[in-house]
Amino acid sequence: MDHFNYHAGELHAEDVPLSRIAAEVGTPVYVYSAATLTRHFGLFRQALAWTDHLVCFAVKANSNLAVLKLLGDLGAGMDVVSGGEYARARAAGVPGDRIVFSGVGKTLAEMRQAIEGGIRQFNIESEPEMRALSTLAASMGAVVPVAVRVNPDVDAKTHEKIATGKSENKFGIPIARAREVYAEAASLPGLRVVGVDVHIGSQLTDLDPYRAAYAKVADLTRALRADGHAITRLDLGGGLGIPYRRDNNAPPLPLEYGQVIRETVGDLGCEIEIEPGRNIVGNAGILLSQVIYVKQGEGRDFLIVDAAMNDLARPAMYGAHHDIVPVIEPAVGAAVRPFDVVGPVCESGDTFQKGADLPRMAAGDLVAFRSAGAYGAVMASEYNSRPLVPEVLVRGDHFAVIRTRPTFEEMLARDSIPAWL
Ligand code: LLP
Repeated sequence: MDHFNYHAGELHAEDVPLSRIAAEVGTPVYVYSAATLTRHFGLFRQALAWTDHLVCFAVKANSNLAVLKLLGDLGAGMDVVSGGEYARARAAGVPGDRIVFSGVGKTLAEMRQAIEGGIRQFNIESEPEMRALSTLAASMGAVVPVAVRVNPDVDAKTHEKIATGKSENKFGIPIARAREVYAEAASLPGLRVVGVDVHIGSQLTDLDPYRAAYAKVADLTRALRADGHAITRLDLGGGLGIPYRRDNNAPPLPLEYGQVIRETVGDLGCEIEIEPGRNIVGNAGILLSQVIYVKQGEGRDFLIVDAAMNDLARPAMYGAHHDIVPVIEPAVGAAVRPFDVVGPVCESGDTFQKGADLPRMAAGDLVAFRSAGAYGAVMASEYNSRPLVPEVLVRGDHFAVIRTRPTFEEMLARDSIPAWL
């Protein structure tokens, strides 16, 4: 459930008509609903209410400071994968002891930043990283909490570009070798082993891969304890999918996911961490765009909108589907016809959807791309020198611009022409 609904014939974000945002901020623009964010975060807390837990929002899904602040104030931890994400989490007021640091390629500078600023745990992804972290921490007089990310070799049954838990993926340490690696971790002076970490992929629509992976983590935890490690935390990753289409194939709910966690690892007495990103923010955001032209092509009509692949990359990158709906509610029974919805960027890949059924559309009409709150703005670029897309946060009947649209001047100011040219 989200808070983007039609009232009085127009699509609203909570109580704000989208046309008001378009008029004041311009298009394209991302619009987020605070109530939806709050609701989705609450669902995960509820799902884990049976145990000690920390829901660490995966900052990569949406790293706007206002979004992080809202979630942080609700008690969220943060899962970060770069120095930049760490800096954002801290700037949003999230204390270091609620931040976990994931990622296969943490640099020494990033590790130092997190040790100095405070960190809940590093999720280690390789032996070289583990040794480097220990040496650095020891040189700083610190002992840092770590979990080792294990790769359980489970098929997440999702898009190949976002599956991470198979042995051929670059992530984690093969679970079969985990005991050996934990033994070395425990012997290193700068590390304190606290947990086990796993993440098998994103946009999972089936709980079975989770069940399989978490059962393996439970077995490993028992074995590690038998080896003498004090495993007190399990970081079970993110990845629970969201409905991108309004049909009956909705993925499982957080509550059902929490049940799987309880059934597989609940008896271990560990504190549970999870790292959901998309599920919290995906359906809490839309991309609002305006029709520039309706163009008749050979046997098809194009709806040329002012959003493009640089603003929302997912369709071009993964063939992802985002429902496209008109902001003005079509009359009941209004005729629809298929449009290829495309952006202005000079690539055929700049196609959001082929054959989208829409009512009569004209230049100037507004459309919304649904389910765009996760991996939307964060993956935007300035390709074709289109200024980075702005973001707006709605709460009730008011809204605020939480990232401005750069002017051309601001966009150009980052370049410089050397004096010798
Ligand atoms: N934890 C780790 C270690 C991750 O790598 C990810 C996502 C998450 C948590 C959060 O997963 P989520 O709950 O959001 O599914 N750009 C792609 C998605 C990439 C996901 C990468 N890792 C997309 O637009 O579909």
